[in-house]
Amino acid sequence: MGLQLREPGSGKDALPDPVTSGVLWQWEPAQHWCCRLRSLCKWQGQRTFIYSLLTRGTPYPASFLLRGIVFCIGNGLLQSYYLIYCAEYLQEWYTDVRFSLGIFLFILGMGINIHSDYALRQLRKPGEVIYKIPQGGLFTYVSGANFLGEITEWIGYALATWSVPGFAFAFFTLCFLGSRAVHHHRFYLKMFKDYPKSRKALVPFIF
Ligand SMILES: NC(=O)c1ccc[n+]([C@@H]2O[C@H](COP(=O)([O-])OP(=O)(O)OC[C@H]3O[C@@H](n4cnc5c(N)ncnc54)[C@H](OP(=O)(O)O)[C@@H]3O)[C@@H](O)[C@H]2O)c1
Repeated sequence: MGLQLREPGSGKDALPDPVTSGVLWQWEPAQHWCCRLRSLCKWQGQRTFIYSLLTRGTPYPASFLLRGIVFCIGNGLLQSYYLIYCAEYLQEWYTDVRFSLGIFLFILGMGINIHSDYALRQLRKPGEVIYKIPQGGLFTYVSGANFLGEITEWIGYALATWSVPGFAFAFFTLCFLGSRAVHHHRFYLKMFKDYPKSRKALVPFIF
């Protein structure tokens, strides 16, 4: 088999079964899968290797870490398995408005999340453990700007993949991080008398 490019979505049946045929290494299917997994991998790489090294957070129980690892492995396997073995996209999908909007939201959310995490990091000097009022970017409008970015990102991923696992993850992220944003907002209101009154918890001007 040569190194020809196959049109994405030209039919999963046309691809050799990577397990039974032993052609996992070959270019065509590998390229096909890489396209699908690229966004997921880039993001998980950022969270694992960059965010964790830059954080100035306080120590937290190892059980939280273990739960996070189990969740990320389980979810990563589920999303990857679906994209590699179950999903089938026609060529037209790559010009579909859901795909384009999904990719746009994914990149926008990623930008908001990275910038907001950066803004939070800048609040503390090395060794400091106090809480301060976050400023700048979407923190001007909401207390949970980093969470809003992450939620936007996974809604984009769900739209772009148009998949049950994608929507399930987006829904989980909305519930989990939405409640964290509300918790942070209440904490700020209680802790800082001068906290901006117009700032909402998660959705600018609304909630
Ligand atoms: N997709 C998912 O399911 C998922 C789940 C969890 C987290 N995440 C992402 O992981 C990232 C971190 O999550 P997180 O729950 O740790 O976020 P977080 O509670 O906002 O904390 C982020 C970092 O900023 C510090 N910080 C927060 N507010 C601060 C303030 N007012 N003043 C000074 N420092 C402050 C925290 O320190 P302390 O540790 O000392 O509080 C921590 O180091 C976020 O981008 C989130 O979107 C994603």
